[in-house]
Amino acid sequence: MAEQRVVVVGAGVMGRGIAQICAMAGYSTVLTDLSQSALDDALVVIEANLDKGVARGKVAPAARTTALSQLSTATDYAEAAPTADVVIEAITEDLDVKRRLFAHLSELVRSDTVLGTNTSSLSVTRIAEATKHPERVIGTHFFNPPHILKLLEIIVTPQTSDTTLERVRAIGADTGREMIVVKDSPGFATSRLGLVLGLEAIRMLQDGVASAEDIDRAMELGYRHPMGPLRLTDLIWLDTRLNIARYLHETLGAEQFRPPRLLIERVAAGKLGKKSGEGFYRW
Ligand SMILES: NC(=O)c1ccc[n+]([C@@H]2O[C@H](COP(=O)([O-])OP(=O)(O)OC[C@H]3O[C@@H](n4cnc5c(N)ncnc54)[C@H](O)[C@@H]3O)[C@@H](O)[C@H]2O)c1
Repeated sequence: MAEQRVVVVGAGVMGRGIAQICAMAGYSTVLTDLSQSALDDALVVIEANLDKGVARGKVAPAARTTALSQLSTATDYAEAAPTADVVIEAITEDLDVKRRLFAHLSELVRSDTVLGTNTSSLSVTRIAEATKHPERVIGTHFFNPPHILKLLEIIVTPQTSDTTLERVRAIGADTGREMIVVKDSPGFATSRLGLVLGLEAIRMLQDGVASAEDIDRAMELGYRHPMGPLRLTDLIWLDTRLNIARYLHETLGAEQFRPPRLLIERVAAGKLGKKSGEGFYRW
């Protein structure tokens, strides 16, 4: 395993998880966020995850110690970025905001630093175009929560270099990932396929085909999905799914991504899923 210095930008749900698995791999990891309280929360969650892992025998006590000793936090990524081998971005899902960040990062980093984005649907090519070295930009799509879900969806643009891809594969291997490589296209593989099922389940509920529980049980028991599409939508958040549906409907022009009326209504009513206490289920 090569020594790596990783900077993660954004310490929300995803950034903290990505930082955790990088630190567990023994990488020197700096987790950064504009918000000090996001960093404080992230450290609490990471430590709790590690403690739970040790208690369940999934994490060796030594790995917990390594992770905590390798991890540091900062409110300004500009200080850490110049020493990074890899920067992984996990900030808000907004193309302009991400493009601005990548433009700034490409001014700060070394000439061989890899820049990964954790976007779940946006164009990696458009993000790369904001930088001086698009060949070093790549999609590094981790799944929530990263310490449990092992998939790493790697997204390559027409300009991503082979060296960049190989370096990300090495990070994936060190952090215990199972990897797939996908060409940059709207929704990649995971969001595009997952959304079709989720939106169709919502349309079925809207049409009164079956209850939310029975639609979910259809996929859990009939197709061995660990979780039905409506419960999953509650966990992913309804507003997130609506935004991605709108984006895929617009970019792919395919009717199956047209947001169902029921989804639009629930989001407008503030029923956003587990985080708001109610989505398709009460939590
Ligand atoms: N939540 C998920 O299940 C999930 C899964 C896969 C991918 N993603 C993607 O990961 C990314 C992050 O999602 P999240 O759910 O962790 O978001 P989040 O809202 O939980 O966290 C985002 C964090 O980024 C910080 N931030 C925003 N702008 C910043 C900037 N310019 N510099 C530094 N910090 C900044 C915010 O303070 C916040 O703490 C998004 O692109 C999202 O689409 C999310």
